[in-house]
Amino acid sequence: MTAPQPLIAGNWKMNGLGPSLVEARAVAAGLQATMARVAICPPATLIHRMAEALAGTPLLIGGQDNHWDDAGAFTGDLSAAMLADAGASLVILGHSERRAGYRETDEVVAAKVRAALRAGLEPIVCVGETLEQRKAGDALAVVTGQVRGSLPAELAGGAFSVAYEPVWAIGTGLTPTTIEIEEVHRAIRATLVEMFGEAGKAVAILYGGSVKPSNAAEILHADEVGGALVGGASLKAEDFLGIIRGL
Ligand code: 13P
Repeated sequence: MTAPQPLIAGNWKMNGLGPSLVEARAVAAGLQATMARVAICPPATLIHRMAEALAGTPLLIGGQDNHWDDAGAFTGDLSAAMLADAGASLVILGHSERRAGYRETDEVVAAKVRAALRAGLEPIVCVGETLEQRKAGDALAVVTGQVRGSLPAELAGGAFSVAYEPVWAIGTGLTPTTIEIEEVHRAIRATLVEMFGEAGKAVAILYGGSVKPSNAAEILHADEVGGALVGGASLKAEDFLGIIRGL
């Protein structure tokens, strides 16, 4: 089983208007024909325009969430098929900002993952402990529990990745030590192999939380780190490219 191909994805969260497409174009222009797969997950309103702006480039586009149902009376929500129709090929699911802010449980995340698969989207499933959970010594149990609960059996044989994003590291400038990251990533790997057998070894496990150009190389070269999910530092092409070059 070959090592997973690294994935570096930028999560723009609720940031970005038309003029921000310049940044996406600059990222595409700065990509070497190398290394990782690189994606930007803009707000849904920009997916279609970004797809047009990036046509012919290897830069991938992802959504940030999708509904668990395929269509229907869900005012304000977006289906996975809508994201795919607009030009997305990936989707972030189970981000802690959705787990905490919208009370998404593992069961809800798993249902959203199934919906993404039905639409042909590649899920990036997020997990991560809070500071309280880490201080209580529960980080590994929380994270592996989220992996078990959020990844449905339907993922077997399909393309997906898991992003470990400690909640306390998101947008704070704080990062775990490399040893702490490796400990959690190894536990996620063991859980993936338990769940999916050999195929679990080919799943990229991304790290997310205050990744920036200055710490990217160390994080990206840590054991079992197969890429990064980048928030704030993905908004500017220069910073995002600086992270990508850390590989
Ligand atoms: P920051 O890189 O801004 O800490 O955000 C991480 C994140 O939540 C990516 O999904």
